[in-house]
Amino acid sequence: MSVEGHAREQWGTRIGLVLAMAGNAVGLGNFLRFPVQAAQNGGGTFMIPYFISFLLLGIPMMWIEWGIGRYGGAHGHGTVPGMFDVLTDRKMKWAKYLGILGVVMPLVVFIYYTYVASWMLGFSFFSLTGDFFGLDGVDEMRSYLYSYQNIFESSSHGGWIALLFFIITIGFLAWVLSRGISAGIEKLALVGMPILFLFAFLLVVRVLTLPAVEAAPAEGLNFIWNPDWRSLGNAKVWLAAAGQMFFTLSIGMGCIQTYASYLRKRDDITLTGLSTAATNEFAEVVLGGTIAIPAAVVFFGVAGATAIANRGSYDLGIVAMGVVFQGLPGPQILGQLAAFLWFFLLFIAGVTSCVALASPTLAFLQEEMGMTRRNAARVVAGLGLVLGMFHVVFYQKGVLGEWDYWAGTFGLVLFATIEIILFSFVFGIDRGWEELHKGADIRIPRIYKPIMKWVTPLFLITLLSWWSVTEAFPKVLMRGVDSGDVPYLWLARLLMLALLAIGLVLLKRAWARKTSDT
Ligand code: PHE
Repeated sequence: MSVEGHAREQWGTRIGLVLAMAGNAVGLGNFLRFPVQAAQNGGGTFMIPYFISFLLLGIPMMWIEWGIGRYGGAHGHGTVPGMFDVLTDRKMKWAKYLGILGVVMPLVVFIYYTYVASWMLGFSFFSLTGDFFGLDGVDEMRSYLYSYQNIFESSSHGGWIALLFFIITIGFLAWVLSRGISAGIEKLALVGMPILFLFAFLLVVRVLTLPAVEAAPAEGLNFIWNPDWRSLGNAKVWLAAAGQMFFTLSIGMGCIQTYASYLRKRDDITLTGLSTAATNEFAEVVLGGTIAIPAAVVFFGVAGATAIANRGSYDLGIVAMGVVFQGLPGPQILGQLAAFLWFFLLFIAGVTSCVALASPTLAFLQEEMGMTRRNAARVVAGLGLVLGMFHVVFYQKGVLGEWDYWAGTFGLVLFATIEIILFSFVFGIDRGWEELHKGADIRIPRIYKPIMKWVTPLFLITLLSWWSVTEAFPKVLMRGVDSGDVPYLWLARLLMLALLAIGLVLLKRAWARKTSDT
């Protein structure tokens, strides 16, 4: 193997690694997706399957992905195809081809996720200029957002404005990525994450001390913290909770593995992996759960907030919050500042996840295709920009939602299922357990051994089957889709399949080259 002798990049410091991993996990999912999922699925009702998913899916998968990543890195592989290859002792030739999902899926998500993150930069800017102040009703704020997202509709600003912020965001990411793991990604996290936590903390205090309008902030907290045990029988809530767990922890994707591949052979993963998961949950449940939901409940009541959340993914975090900031007591400038804290926090959360999403492709281009980091960063940014244009132009047709469903929701569960089977059964749970404990700072409770071998895989297979029947098949057939959107959604799917096909071809060629090298 030609790559195995090369010195790989490494994280600079432990705190930097923890913050980078936290930056990977803490993203728009925590502050935008979580409140919407929780509100749509009955608040407290959602939280029981959510916590169970954390214990039985989130935590075990987190450890396994750290383990696979560090093991792969020690064998010169920063991406899942090579990791699956060594995990199966190079005996199962097909395993690496399945692993390509762990490069292509994050690339697909990177492309649309970066576009959404760029909106947050746009809205940070408009908060400071007070552009949307005066649009103090939900409908006005919604049209404002829609006009931003639709480049053909320039009622609030020129159609090019979304494109401008997108280009700035991609440019920024290209710069960070080309600086490398320690000087780029780690540095971004060291600077960004403390700011993110500070801003979130200030907003939590502001929300909790709001005077009641429709309801008191406590009522919003009540809504998420009062569980309804009957929900345990509701399949839809389980799917939503498990799906959220995957997305928010960045598992089933390929990104945790790439980050973990930059660890040293005996760096701890048990305690550090757990701390990352815990940090993410703190940011999601405590901070994410105490900003958008209670704030919306104060202004619109529980029923009103739920109705807004049901309209779409960005209605709570952008539309409702946009109205909330305008209704804060005190002079307008304070509302503008609060809005800036919110949207800029979202931007930081977004970009620290974007770099994680880009990292598997970046590592693949460098290690399997022999590119320099700088060139690889250029290629990734270029792909982001060119393919991102598809979303910029056709957002209204639902193409972003289509990518998000396959590569950002369903695909994660599918990929995690493949991964855990390879880890627990092919590599073997005994070897796996030993591998996880190399250099470990804490021992994983023994109960997790049978969980990793039986409970998590069964849970995943059940989820996957349930999901395929109730959602994925109807989705494949595009049931309920507006007929005008159908061709665009097909195009969206073809693009994803084309990326997958290119990935497979490149992988095959890279391996052929490797075998001829040795
Ligand atoms: N976890 C991120 C979020 O909550 C999204 C993400 C998924 C990032 C997978 C990297 C990999 O927004």
